Amino acid sequence: MTQTSPGEGPPGPAPQSGWRNWLTIAGAILASGSLFAFFLLLALDLMGKGRGNPYLGILCYVVAPSFLAFGLAVAAVGFVRRRRELARLRGLGQAMPIEIDLSRSRDRTILKVFIGGACVYLVLTAFGSYQTYLYTESDSFCGEVCHSVMGPELTAYRRNAHARVACVDCHVGEGAKSYISAKINGVHQLVDITLNRFPRPIPTPIHNLRPARETCERCHWPEKRTGDLERIQHRYLADATNSPYSVTLLLKVGGGGTVHGVPGGIHWHTNPDSKVEYLATDPQRQVIPWMRVTEKGGRVTVYRTKAFKGEPDPAALRTMDCLDCHNRPAHRFSTPNDAVDEALYLGRMDVSLPSIKKTAVDLLTQTYATSAQARDQIAAGLRKKYGAAKGVDGTIEAVQAVYRHNFFPEMKADWSQYPENIGHMDTAGCFRCHDEKHVAEGGAKMPATDCDSCHVILAQGAGAELTQLSTGGVAFKHPSTDIEGLGLTCSDCHNGKNQDN
Ligand code: HEC
Ligand code: HEC
Ligand code: HEC
Ligand code: HEC
Ligand code: HEC
Ligand code: HEC
Repeated sequence: MTQTSPGEGPPGPAPQSGWRNWLTIAGAILASGSLFAFFLLLALDLMGKGRGNPYLGILCYVVAPSFLAFGLAVAAVGFVRRRRELARLRGLGQAMPIEIDLSRSRDRTILKVFIGGACVYLVLTAFGSYQTYLYTESDSFCGEVCHSVMGPELTAYRRNAHARVACVDCHVGEGAKSYISAKINGVHQLVDITLNRFPRPIPTPIHNLRPARETCERCHWPEKRTGDLERIQHRYLADATNSPYSVTLLLKVGGGGTVHGVPGGIHWHTNPDSKVEYLATDPQRQVIPWMRVTEKGGRVTVYRTKAFKGEPDPAALRTMDCLDCHNRPAHRFSTPNDAVDEALYLGRMDVSLPSIKKTAVDLLTQTYATSAQARDQIAAGLRKKYGAAKGVDGTIEAVQAVYRHNFFPEMKADWSQYPENIGHMDTAGCFRCHDEKHVAEGGAKMPATDCDSCHVILAQGAGAELTQLSTGGVAFKHPSTDIEGLGLTCSDCHNGKNQDN
């Protein structure tokens, strides 16, 4: 089909341009489609729609530009080939082949089909990109696409106070710098996951996590004063009758600012006028032999343990922020002891089953290869001990649920790998710094080491004892065993399991 349509006059001498070939046109269409997709994604990103979502970044800054580059390369290849062909023919003195000539209806038809196709392609690209973007913004993408990897964090997150705060709100900070680094990070992670090249458990703390200033403080500003908080720990002993033992604490959280009072209490640490830097000698920041307080007024105090000699490397110091106490704000893996106490208190496990506290904690702390194996063995263990006693069915379900929510054998993730620093019972927590071992140069003791400096105990025990509140606070009465004068801290004995383990 090379004849010209009527009424268009004789074909003039065909212009001999290297651009006019189908390969180049196809490449150009691909490139312009990608460019369009790129601008669309860029607009979404700049409008803050993704709040720095790293996967929007992958689409925008990696996928779209790759297609753009590919399209341009195809166009260039077409151009070069066409030019070579023309030169060769010219050299041979042959007649030039007819190029794409829009005066021919065949070429016009082909072009129309191309443009039509390109429009459909553009619409699909735009729609597809937007859908992909919406999906990647979701928490299910963060947690589920990489399911086996981040499953533990997603499971814990969904049952947490931050369940409606997007992953990216804590994991990706604000500002251009964190955009870029999150983008690069996201690509790294995707590669590692694809190649099944990631550690189990995922190491913690995350060293490149955005500073709390850029994440937590957007919603919880440091000057905000929390005041005193009442917390009741409902506990059960590992005896035959699962004796209840509760402690009502009034935590002196205080605040870092002056809106409702001077900085003080536990949140004194968040006060913008003081800085605490410290040295940790292990990757999980559990051992802290040295720290320095710098106050706006000019006071500088260094506290150190006797065992630590010399001066720390300044590059190894960390400035304390929210995450040094609230290190599991969204993904707390409960200890078996905590989780069983909670389930007993909520009536999910039947407290009338003899020794159920001890039995459940023991079953949860066995080593299982898979979640399925754990589920079956927990059921078998409880059946063996209690047979068909009243309340066993619900209790089995409750123990299995505790396991499902807090233990992830496939990822080797549980409380023992991710210690929480907020208290001092199962891990050193506050006592990493607040103990008798840290002293200042002049011999001054570290403040807040007495039992009533961070909280007072309003009531403790069981039943009627709990109704007699003592506003001035009472001394802690340790249940079942006397720990007075042993010179031990709580976490020397307590570790989240049963005491005989
Ligand atoms: C409220 C803030 C917050 C939210 C929301 C949040 N995270 Fe985290 N996440 C953290 C902090 C803080 C750490 C670091 C813990 C540490 O350094 O000890 C962390 C650690 C992690 C880790 C490293 C392993 C670990 O458990 O320490 C993974 C993986 C993770 N988060 C995934 C997610 C996913 C997936 C989501 C959304 C489903 C999410 N996070 C939502 C604050 C958050
Ligand atoms: C996007 C906003 C947002 C960000 C970012 C955020 N939080 Fe929260 N946080 C909340 C909300 C909302 C609650 C729930 C308040 C409530 O239920 O009263 C909350 C609750 C809390 C609580 C009380 C938790 C509890 O279990 O009762 C703590 C502690 C906390 N956040 C610490 C943090 C820390 C640490 C970070 C940074 C890693 C952080 N938050 C980041 C919004 C946020
Ligand atoms: C020295 C340790 C420490 C530091 C640092 C710290 N907190 Fe806290 N925070 C606590 C303790 C202890 C509580 C009492 C509640 C508890 O034990 O869970 C608390 C309570 C809170 C609560 C209130 C929880 C509620 O249920 O009302 C929020 C919100 C909170 N912190 C956010 C932050 C933020 C944001 C930062 C950083 C600006 C921060 N904290 C720094 C130890 C700390
Ligand atoms: C990295 C070390 C470190 C950790 C961990 C730490 N603190 Fe502190 N804390 C300090 C330093 C340093 C000071 C100030 C010492 C000074 O004033 O000379 C301080 C001061 C305090 C004060 C006295 C505030 C005032 O009004 O003067 C309280 C209360 C307190 N901390 C509670 C806690 C609690 C509760 C935890 C655990 C959730 C905790 N701290 C964890 C280092 C730490
Ligand atoms: C540096 C501050 C600090 C000091 C000093 C301190 N505590 Fe605590 N204590 C805390 C915090 C923070 C919690 C955790 C509150 C929470 O889990 O929300 C806690 C929790 C507790 C609990 C509840 C444990 C549970 O989970 O059932 C008891 C009991 C307790 N402390 C007793 C003591 C005794 C006894 C001493 C003195 C040897 C002491 N505390 C010294 C900060 C402190
Ligand atoms: C010498 C070891 C030892 C030390 C030190 C110790 N405990 Fe205990 N604790 C025990 C034993 C043993 C039990 C009884 C176990 C049971 O019945 O669950 C217990 C039980 C408890 C219970 C109630 C049961 C439960 O759910 O865990 C609480 C709360 C408790 N201890 C808090 C503390 C605190 C807070 C400290 C630090 C001030 C501390 N213990 C120090 C050995 C110790």
